[in-house]
Amino acid sequence: MLPVAEMETALKNGIAKVPDRCAGRHDVGAYNPSDDLEIEVRFLSLADISSVLELEQRKWQDDQRADASMLASRITSFPALSIGAFCTRTGTALASVFMKPARHDIIRKCPTWEDCARKQHGDESAKTGVLFGISLSSVDPKAAQAIFEFFWPHALKAGWSEVYLGSPVPGLRNWISKNPDIPVAQYVRGERKGLPLDPQLRYYFKKGFRKIVAINDNYFPHEPSLDVGVLIVGKVPLSGLSFIWKRVPLPWLQRMKKLFFVCL
Ligand SMILES: CC(C)(COP(=O)(O)OP(=O)(O)OC[C@H]1O[C@@H](n2cnc3c(N)ncnc32)[C@H](O)[C@@H]1OP(=O)(O)O)[C@@H](O)C(=O)NCCC(=O)NCCS
Repeated sequence: MLPVAEMETALKNGIAKVPDRCAGRHDVGAYNPSDDLEIEVRFLSLADISSVLELEQRKWQDDQRADASMLASRITSFPALSIGAFCTRTGTALASVFMKPARHDIIRKCPTWEDCARKQHGDESAKTGVLFGISLSSVDPKAAQAIFEFFWPHALKAGWSEVYLGSPVPGLRNWISKNPDIPVAQYVRGERKGLPLDPQLRYYFKKGFRKIVAINDNYFPHEPSLDVGVLIVGKVPLSGLSFIWKRVPLPWLQRMKKLFFVCL
């Protein structure tokens, strides 16, 4: 483990060294374990497609995952919204996120993930401040966290203030089997100790995605969620002061990364 000061510098430079292993917590055996996981976060290029495809393979099923041409299209369309976290030792992709510019009115009307993720005419020039998260995949929570830490300063500089995403609700099928007469919305909006009942909604809640906008049937093929997708939205931390951040140099914003999570 690095001393704290050295860790701060490494994190500032986009490289975090944390004790873990490149295999990721839920994928024992797929990669050589390592006690020291060094994570590099960077914007994706076409050269990263093969490692990102491996990650897709590990985290998504056949009818869910992106293929090489979908990844290429996302990266070439929005290179500043396509981010990966890699193990610096093996080059393995540990987490990825893909986003696109969006508009409140359009995204709220889209009934399915495909509609939300589809490239719309004018997306390239959109200056809406609003994004849609097409996909988040991760085999290690530290890698996913490193991606958020990497992206928030860039988001503030670019003037992005809100991010929509469609979350599965993997606890739904099980809940319905025990509560067949209770509406799905009651589960989706249900809380225990101030946190959502559903594990994935709880995950996003902790990352700042707290507002439920819509509950969509047949949103995305996902058996445990009974194909239900919940459109949620989160604010980019500190984006209320965007007029200031546009004038602040990026490295200064990157140094503030701890503050972003206090402000969630
Ligand atoms: C969702 C995802 C990106 C989170 O990755 P991560 O930051 O590495 O975190 P983990 O997968 O360890 O999940 C963290 C916690 O969130 C909860 N969680 C998140 N997604 C979950 C899911 N689909 N089912 C059950 N629990 C889930 C778990 O409670 C887990 O808690 P644990 O520490 O007790 O295991 C990752 O699980 C993934 O790639 N899933 C498949 C693809 C997906 O669903 N992407 C998001 C679509 S919007």
